[in-house]
Amino acid sequence: MTTVGFIGAGRMGGTLARLAVEAGYDVVLSNSRTPRSLKDKVAALGEKARAGTPTDAANAGDIVVVSIPLRAYPTLPVEPLIGKPVLDTCNYYPQRDGHIAVLDTDATTSSHLVAKHLIGAHVVKAFNNIYFKNLESLRRPPGAPDRSALPIAGDDESAKAAATSFINAIGFDVVDAGPLEAGRLFQVGTPAFVAPYGGPGTPAGTDTIRAALEAAKQ
Ligand SMILES: NC(=O)c1ccc[n+]([C@@H]2O[C@H](COP(=O)([O-])OP(=O)(O)OC[C@H]3O[C@@H](n4cnc5c(N)ncnc54)[C@H](OP(=O)(O)O)[C@@H]3O)[C@@H](O)[C@H]2O)c1
Repeated sequence: MTTVGFIGAGRMGGTLARLAVEAGYDVVLSNSRTPRSLKDKVAALGEKARAGTPTDAANAGDIVVVSIPLRAYPTLPVEPLIGKPVLDTCNYYPQRDGHIAVLDTDATTSSHLVAKHLIGAHVVKAFNNIYFKNLESLRRPPGAPDRSALPIAGDDESAKAAATSFINAIGFDVVDAGPLEAGRLFQVGTPAFVAPYGGPGTPAGTDTIRAALEAAKQ
């Protein structure tokens, strides 16, 4: 069975971990503190969940979700993530993360910063464009007419296949936006960011997400 490692287990990471467990995955949760600080969260998830350090989660995960405030990316463990699919949910908010000049000038993207730090990992931008509560309200079984879609972007096809399989398993279709650079099309402030999922019960299918990605190119 596939294990999903989580570096960051807050609103987004914690929600994804629960959906992963419900879809049958084993999960390893971590944060910047001690595994002990995740005791209650792990207990609530049941026997398929355990807590560890970020390095533990990175080592254990067949895929690893990074869901931390962007400013913390330089603390991510590098070596255990080499060769692995890393799903990056992070967004850049200067008011939270402090100003990062290369992002303020649009010289690069937040996912490229993460990828540059995680040498050898296969970073896929995913989940950054949906409010965490809508992951819960909009997930649907495969083939449901009102199934929503999530965009991904990444440079490694096998990592994107792993991300697609995971996203499908937890209840969403996937729109492959292209290489990691295409993450620009669904970062903060684009038409594909948050707005298409207009609230509980308002799905955004593949056509809607494709149209939003196209609109971002204008
Ligand atoms: N909330 C949303 O709806 C949403 C939607 C899309 C994207 N995002 C993005 O996803 C990321 C996470 O958002 P969130 O809302 O889940 O934030 P959050 O609720 O504040 O959770 C952040 C998690 O990261 C952990 N953390 C902080 N620094 C860390 C480090 N150096 N190493 C390991 N873990 C660390 C925190 O635990 P400790 O502080 O205890 O270490 C906590 O578990 C952000 O970049 C956010 O912009 C969020």
